[in-house]
Amino acid sequence: MKPYTISFFVLLFALQASAQHKLPNVVILATGGTIAGAGESSVGTAYTAGKLPIDALLNALPEARKIANLTGEQVASVGSQAMHDSIWLKLAKRINELAAKPEVDGIVVTHGTDTEGETGFFLQLTVKTAKPVVLVGAMRSATAISADGPMNLYNGIAAAASKRSENRGVLVCMNDQLFSAREVTKTNTTNVATFQSPNTGPLGTVFDGKVEYYHSILRKHTIQTEFDISQVNSLPKVDILYGYANMNPVLLEAVVNDKAQGVVIAGVGNGNLYPTVEKRVKEITRKGVVVVRSSRTGSGRVTLNSETDDAALGTIVADDLNPQKARILLQLALLKTKDTKKIQEMFFTY
Ligand code: SIN
Repeated sequence: MKPYTISFFVLLFALQASAQHKLPNVVILATGGTIAGAGESSVGTAYTAGKLPIDALLNALPEARKIANLTGEQVASVGSQAMHDSIWLKLAKRINELAAKPEVDGIVVTHGTDTEGETGFFLQLTVKTAKPVVLVGAMRSATAISADGPMNLYNGIAAAASKRSENRGVLVCMNDQLFSAREVTKTNTTNVATFQSPNTGPLGTVFDGKVEYYHSILRKHTIQTEFDISQVNSLPKVDILYGYANMNPVLLEAVVNDKAQGVVIAGVGNGNLYPTVEKRVKEITRKGVVVVRSSRTGSGRVTLNSETDDAALGTIVADDLNPQKARILLQLALLKTKDTKKIQEMFFTY
């Protein structure tokens, strides 16, 4: 080979290396879910969630290495119906470690969709960084026709690599849309457009790797919260009860006897409670169990002291958090206080 040919290749290599060097550094934390799911058939719905390791997901997506330098870590390998407090704590602590490193620009979490909104909100309240943290998932397994995981992962990496995503709280990226983790919820059992923010709509979009925002979250999040989980190894026990006509008050006994420190009731309408349940609620709040009224309706606020007399019952309201998100805020609140006035203030702050 002629010397100038060798110099050309050396130059090319150096240019490539420097371009690579300039790309943002994004860390992918994998937890399992359908995005890592594999099945026998590409058309059937049967598959096992969380089967493929993060390396397999990234190897199937070489395009993503053109927009960010990627490293992957396997934090868990579960279907997200099996998500639990200790994985949340492990994830939040690892994100805080990674985000503190100057060389890390953004973090993506791969997650099952069933509880993706819950994990997102837990992280929204506990990670201490303004850097982008983006959750992604998939409705179709990695082996299905038209699997949505690769595009969701690519878009999530684009969002995490973008300076535009900083200071926006934790994001969920699904189906070309970017949602605030506070607002987003899964609304359909199987459709790829399942993620919606019923009260506020999405914050932005990602299309062809281009990230665009149209709205911001106003409630406090991440570095603005009072929650520090660095020394926390378990969360207070809080259960959710679903309200319905003629609801059985014995359900409350069951959770209180099982040592719940707090109960979220997904009440009917504006978080209203069946009369015999209301009577029982009054008794348990007097014993120090914190009861939050939320709603089973799927959107809207539960308002304090309006249809229901919270002052008389000793209850607090979830504002517009859905029951599963109200549970998370109550768990974190109970790490700090049992004072219902202070906890109510947290529900109007976060
Ligand atoms: C899960 O949540 O792990 C299963 C369902 C999904 O990821 O879509």
